[in-house]
Amino acid sequence: MSGASLQVDERGRLRHFLTVEGLGRELLTEILDTAESFAGVTEQTVKKVPLLRGKTIVNLFFEASTRTRTTFELAAKRLSADVLNINVSASATTKGETLLDTLRNLEAMHVDMFVVRHADSGAAHFIARHVRPHVSVVNAGDGRHAHPTQALLDAFTIRRRKGRFEDLVVAIVGDILHSRVARSQIHALNTLGTGEVRVVAPRTLLPAHVDDLGVHVFHRMEDGLREADVVIMLRLQKERMRGAHLPSEHEYFRLYGLTEERLALARPDAIVMHPGPINRGIELESRVADGPRSVILEQVEHGIAVRMAIMSMTMRTTGDGTA
Ligand code: NCD
Repeated sequence: MSGASLQVDERGRLRHFLTVEGLGRELLTEILDTAESFAGVTEQTVKKVPLLRGKTIVNLFFEASTRTRTTFELAAKRLSADVLNINVSASATTKGETLLDTLRNLEAMHVDMFVVRHADSGAAHFIARHVRPHVSVVNAGDGRHAHPTQALLDAFTIRRRKGRFEDLVVAIVGDILHSRVARSQIHALNTLGTGEVRVVAPRTLLPAHVDDLGVHVFHRMEDGLREADVVIMLRLQKERMRGAHLPSEHEYFRLYGLTEERLALARPDAIVMHPGPINRGIELESRVADGPRSVILEQVEHGIAVRMAIMSMTMRTTGDGTA
């Protein structure tokens, strides 16, 4: 499922945005820098720029989402594009022809970009392989595989707060096994040159060969949090769990829940992140979620600027060909 050649054109520019894997530091930094310029736009009273005027973007969501869909929608609107939201409830087996048919019908309406969320890993790649040459595809989360825009907005939040990646210790805590967010974050943080990326989880919530991803593995929360600059908590993805991965939620919180006491093990200026939706009392206590070190709502806000950056960069290569 290598997306590198599929998502970058012969001049090294983004054509689709499907996965962080295979993208270089320069390109990821360009996304963050572009997002920085858009962050100003979202703070103005008139929150629009005309960059994608006349373009049509379809949010094609086969899986429920609030935050991701709405921030994509706002990002598109702030770039002056027309946006259509299509929520398709689909079972995991309706890929193949059904997906292609949906696509062909939408293409007939002269759509310029698809933002795709799907429960199957590889769905966005599949669509990217089948769209017409001028159409871009952005992956808004596919199965357990990737959630690259989330990883970039997380990196953006870290860079804004910490100003750098080089000497940072970032601990990603929780259900790594089922998390497309964790996979994309690990690739993004390593590509951006983060000092140390840790994963902290029970063995049952870690994928096999997790060390191959370039992370340090910790099974005890107390060890994994020590001296961390950034603590990223992940949601327990109960809907993806088949069989017994956990004794109970209560037990999980006892061992891996982020409390004020545990957070004290991290650096005094450590920030707490979570891609949402949060489960209070399971991954983290409310005192932490709503506390001064939590940047969870900043992540949501930054999602708009980062998605504006990714949309405008992919559209640049597929626009009128003169860019
Ligand atoms: C994540 C997702 O859907 O993968 N959420 C999000 O995009 N904001 C993480 C999650 O569902 O836990």
